[in-house]
Amino acid sequence: MKELIKGAQAVLKNNWMGGYTRPSALLYPHQWSWDSAFIAIGYSTFDEHRAQTELLSLFRGQWKNGMIPHIVYSPNPSDAYFPDAEFWNTTSSKQAPSGLQTSGITHPPVHATAALTIYNRAKNRRSALEFLKEIFPNLLASHRFFHTIRDPLGEGLAYIRHPWASGLDNSPTWDIPLQRIELGDTPGFERKDLRGVPLEERPRDWDYNRYIYLVELFKEHSYDEAELFKSCPFLLQDPLVNSILVKADSDLAGIAEILGEDPSEIRGWEEKTKKAINKKLWHRGHGFYDAYDLRADEMIEVDTASGFVPLYGGIPTRSQARKLYKYLDSKSFCSIHEKKCFSIPNYNREGVHFDPVNYWRGPIWINMNWIIMQGLRRYDYVDKADSVKADIIELVRRYGFHEYYDPFKGRGYGSTDFSWTAALFLDTVFDDEKIQ
Ligand code: SER
Repeated sequence: MKELIKGAQAVLKNNWMGGYTRPSALLYPHQWSWDSAFIAIGYSTFDEHRAQTELLSLFRGQWKNGMIPHIVYSPNPSDAYFPDAEFWNTTSSKQAPSGLQTSGITHPPVHATAALTIYNRAKNRRSALEFLKEIFPNLLASHRFFHTIRDPLGEGLAYIRHPWASGLDNSPTWDIPLQRIELGDTPGFERKDLRGVPLEERPRDWDYNRYIYLVELFKEHSYDEAELFKSCPFLLQDPLVNSILVKADSDLAGIAEILGEDPSEIRGWEEKTKKAINKKLWHRGHGFYDAYDLRADEMIEVDTASGFVPLYGGIPTRSQARKLYKYLDSKSFCSIHEKKCFSIPNYNREGVHFDPVNYWRGPIWINMNWIIMQGLRRYDYVDKADSVKADIIELVRRYGFHEYYDPFKGRGYGSTDFSWTAALFLDTVFDDEKIQ
């Protein structure tokens, strides 16, 4: 175990770019938003100063309306990633920050959870408190953005307007809303991801054409949120984004209390979103949480691991949780009793589009396992949580710190030396091992 821990720390150190940590050398040279939060949690196990720097540096890219963009671009020009900052051209928005370049969409809001974890683990209590004081107004603004600007009808659910914003880029859930997009004269572009990773492990050109169509639409409207709420063909309320928001609201309220601030507004957001998830995203007949397609005004009944994430936010009732657990521990998502299958594949393995090799369409992701493992503990499903934990450790031990893994063969795909895999591995073993 000591060697594995050293290996995980080395992945983070090697990906450190002098102010932030890149997700991987092969595919992702800039700073990604939810990656950065997971990475900061990893650093909190052995380098509290680096953990604080990681998270604070992300907020340099925060927009004036509170949005944390999903990418903050490195000032050093890089030919390794498409779309680059020029392509997003977010300077056309009055909301974009000046002095550095970002994308124009969000990512799941894990940041308050990361900030509280960093504070709780810090040995230097004074500097940890200073860190919380510094970051609290930015965190608050980012939550207010989700709860107001991204919830214009006041339903208690934040929307996303791009598959990349879900974190689960080519999840089969997005196939249906993306089909609605009729491509016109979208400009040509070169995908850089396929230089290092085979197409069978990455999204199709079909998906990329639609990702880029949406970016073109955002640019046409200068990233005006009210305009895009009216015109964007992809407008979704996702259980993963909203459940992560609920958990982060709870942690943000905890931060407010530590700082002697009034947490009542934040607690109000948390309760409202909890209720809304159970009212609008719970499919009664099916006993599962689905995304809601605001354009088609209907649920998307596609079963991905995102439907289990409400457990992490403490959202389901006991009886809802029992239904989720039964499904999670069935053949569909690899039962605890099955020896030939690692858990948790990101998509029902009996689903029509299941593909154990392709990105978010079947492989196991360590961040999803880490999130759902905590949800299982919250509802006292201890054996299953322990088995998910054992799989996290075994996948890393046997195959290395990959971006994602085949549920049957175990072998890893995408990038090697992937930062959040290393970071969340460190967090997973932290309580059992003395990490220095
Ligand atoms: N994950 C996306 C990519 O693969 C961007 O956020 O480029």
